[in-house]
Amino acid sequence: MTYVVNDNCIKCKYTDCVEVCPVDCFYEGENMLVIHPDECIDCGVCEPECPAEAIKPDTEPGLEKWLGLNAEYAKTWPNITVKKEAPADAKDWEGVAGKFEKFFSAEPGQGD
Ligand code: SF4
Ligand code: F3S
Repeated sequence: MTYVVNDNCIKCKYTDCVEVCPVDCFYEGENMLVIHPDECIDCGVCEPECPAEAIKPDTEPGLEKWLGLNAEYAKTWPNITVKKEAPADAKDWEGVAGKFEKFFSAEPGQGD
């Protein structure tokens, strides 16, 4: 089992999650983060920290797509362990539907 980041993170990217992860298993893309499923210890502390409700346990139904995406990009995106300033318009993107189709970027972020 692992926790996964879903498309609610896209363009919100608050990074509150990285500060609390005891094993530093978040990886940064251009406009979202992912969790490395083999490194996550399922502690669950990151889930309530996300203002965009973008983190879910993979035991919830319908998360297969996001688990695959987290596993794929955690291999190549850089590690992030320190909170950064969120995008200025992050609040405007909370809960917006269809963000993956319109805005997902496979480009890596800056990392720490
Ligand atoms: Fe890190 Fe725990 Fe969240 Fe997994 S569940 S990503 S170990 S804080
Ligand atoms: Fe994304 Fe939420 Fe973390 S918006 S960066 S999963 S705090």
